[in-house]
Amino acid sequence: MIEWRDKMSIDDGGVIDQDHRHLIDIINRFEALAADGLERGEATEILHALKFYTETHFGREEQLQNMINYPDVGDHHEEHRELMKSLDDVIHHMDETADDALDRVHGEMAHLLHDWLIGHILHSDLKMRVYVDLMKKHADNFGALKDLEVVPA
Ligand SMILES: [Fe+2]
Ligand SMILES: [Fe+2]
Repeated sequence: MIEWRDKMSIDDGGVIDQDHRHLIDIINRFEALAADGLERGEATEILHALKFYTETHFGREEQLQNMINYPDVGDHHEEHRELMKSLDDVIHHMDETADDALDRVHGEMAHLLHDWLIGHILHSDLKMRVYVDLMKKHADNFGALKDLEVVPA
């Protein structure tokens, strides 16, 4: 299970942190259910929810980076595209797995998703922290970011 820690915070409980916590909740749910023997339909549903929310989150995060002229935009967006591709690969792998091997594969996926999300938050997203602080000093309406239209990657 992934436990939220303060050192993961990008924007002090703002929209990015809320998104990350929601993604962590979805992955934790997958892991908890996988430990008990997860049905294929249920697993597919959770992974598609994860995919949908990840697309929404990446769109929102990329908007934030554009707003603060984040210098590492190109590499970061490329990493988002790679992460979406890995998630598609995971979903595809599960679809191709025979019923009698599903339990093992679900266990492997839970570990993989854990590293997939936490690796990105800790190694790439956290670099935004100093820029978000700067922007918050100058932007009165930071909360309005929530309402911006999200264009999935
Ligand atoms: Fe990111
Ligand atoms: Fe993120």
